[in-house]
Amino acid sequence: MQQRVIVILLGAIGAILALVVGVIAFVGLSADQPAQTASSAMPPPEEDGMSLPSPSALPEQVRSIDYDPILDANYWMAEFPYQTESFLADRSVEPKKDYLEFYPFLNTIFAGSRFAEGYYSPMPHDYAVHNVKSTPRLTDEHPAACFACKTPDYVVMEAQDPAGTWSRGFHEVSDQMTNAITCYDCHRNEPGRGLGGDGIDGGFTGSIRSHFSIWYEETRGATASCAQCHVEYYFNEQTWQVALPPGPTDPEIILGYYNALGLVDHVNPNTGTEQLKVQHPEYQHFAGSVHQREGMTCVDCHMVRSTPDGEGGFLTDHTITSPSQSREIRDTACAPCHGGGDEAILQLIRDTQESSRSRTLALGERLADFQIAFAAAQDAGQLSEGHIEVLRGMEREVVWYFDWVFSENGNGVHNYEGNHRWMQRAEEVLNQAESLLNE
Ligand code: HEC
Ligand code: HEC
Ligand code: HEC
Ligand code: HEC
Repeated sequence: MQQRVIVILLGAIGAILALVVGVIAFVGLSADQPAQTASSAMPPPEEDGMSLPSPSALPEQVRSIDYDPILDANYWMAEFPYQTESFLADRSVEPKKDYLEFYPFLNTIFAGSRFAEGYYSPMPHDYAVHNVKSTPRLTDEHPAACFACKTPDYVVMEAQDPAGTWSRGFHEVSDQMTNAITCYDCHRNEPGRGLGGDGIDGGFTGSIRSHFSIWYEETRGATASCAQCHVEYYFNEQTWQVALPPGPTDPEIILGYYNALGLVDHVNPNTGTEQLKVQHPEYQHFAGSVHQREGMTCVDCHMVRSTPDGEGGFLTDHTITSPSQSREIRDTACAPCHGGGDEAILQLIRDTQESSRSRTLALGERLADFQIAFAAAQDAGQLSEGHIEVLRGMEREVVWYFDWVFSENGNGVHNYEGNHRWMQRAEEVLNQAESLLNE
């Protein structure tokens, strides 16, 4: 009993702290930020050297880009046959996997979210426009911004009329969104310029998306070209502009930032918890990883570079693939550091994924069981208001960390150490929540 009082007290102090930080953050925010209250938010982290990113770092500006018509990939065949042919080459495609069927506990975890309506494994880029137009996840209420990472057409529309584009509905702009992800997404209409170097955006091998502006200066072009889309983001709830949580890429900091903003993606109808949904944080996982510290980029592992360019460098094969599917990538990009032969490299990938995946799925099962028990205890009137409030805060946090790892597409390879640290955090909070519920 005494323990419970302490937990509730701690919860209350946490809520007050979060509120204070939230208020401070709002004072600093520009007037067009959503005026929400920090709800069952947990207190922001206070680790050494880490603090909430300054709200002034929010990406408000939209970068000016050329309004050239977006040139079709075929246009470049004569000038850049190697890149264009590999870009357009057919690939064997695995059928998409229905996560809700494979992992039934997701239906419980994401109850109340559109993700409980449809949730699939990713497919190659040329499917992106078709897939987003046909997903059962989207309704008439969804913003045009869902196209931001599916087609360059959105980027051009946004550059011409930012606010007008954000305020439009998904289906209003749908007919105008036709170009698949193409050369323009990473090179504008200038492929071949700014080759090879650290690129940033100046070389036009980087990001054309305004939301990525917060990291333009510090991200290598070959990583930015992927990270502009493969990144955790949120929608500004008032303007629907795509925004990235600024500052450190650690999920603890980002959760603190979202809590201060009072961000809620959906309310779980069974437990009443205001939940967040994470979206494919490949960039944030990679950003703190051993391979990033070794100086690698996304492209080193996902595009083959073994054909000499005649000037001492290499041409980039534009078939996007993965090390587990490409012997050439393993031989040229992994073997120099990872000895033991090809089978050992494949085994390392498999072991890394298996160790991360099995822990994540086990957590998912437990989390769903907890939610069912928590909902039942509320229905039976067994819990006080204060009790419920604390448990909801814990549930929000566990869902966040679970999803931070589950929704990331590398299954552990992009940041092995991080994945286990984040799972451990989730397990600890879930342990506390379970014992509090069972008292
Ligand atoms: C314009 C946004 C965008 C950019 C830029 C982008 N991606 Fe993607 N990527 C997507 C989307 C969206 C999907 C999922 C498509 C679907 O399932 O409909 C995807 C899927 C993938 C997949 C899984 C399917 C497959 O092809 O095996 C891989 C791997 C991938 N991207 C890697 C990369 C890499 C590496 C880069 C940078 C060189 C990159 N992406 C740049 C948006 C993007
Ligand atoms: C050290 C090598 C390495 C780096 C660096 C790397 N990846 Fe990966 N990535 C992998 C491996 C290995 C897989 C697992 C592939 C598999 O399961 O077949 C993977 C999987 C993926 C997938 C899912 C593919 C699918 O078919 O489901 C995406 C998307 C992806 N990576 C994007 C990125 C992005 C974006 C970056 C940079 C921010 C990046 N990767 C950096 C090695 C890497
Ligand atoms: C998803 C992002 C992406 C897309 C789409 C893309 N490229 Fe690239 N491209 C890159 C990256 C990354 C590099 C390597 C740059 C580096 O090393 O910093 C590159 C390099 C190049 C180069 C320089 C020479 C080389 O081979 O490294 C040319 C030319 C080029 N691309 C042409 C094209 C053409 C033409 C298309 C469309 C048919 C295209 N690219 C589509 C990301 C992309
Ligand atoms: C520049 C050196 C370097 C290259 C190149 C490299 N790695 Fe690694 N990799 C490391 C280091 C360092 C570790 C940390 C563990 C260790 O000491 O072996 C690691 C660990 C791993 C792990 C275990 C999980 C982890 O993060 O500790 C996997 C999986 C992995 N690498 C996959 C790959 C793949 C796939 C490639 C090629 C696409 C690749 N690596 C290329 C240096 C490299």
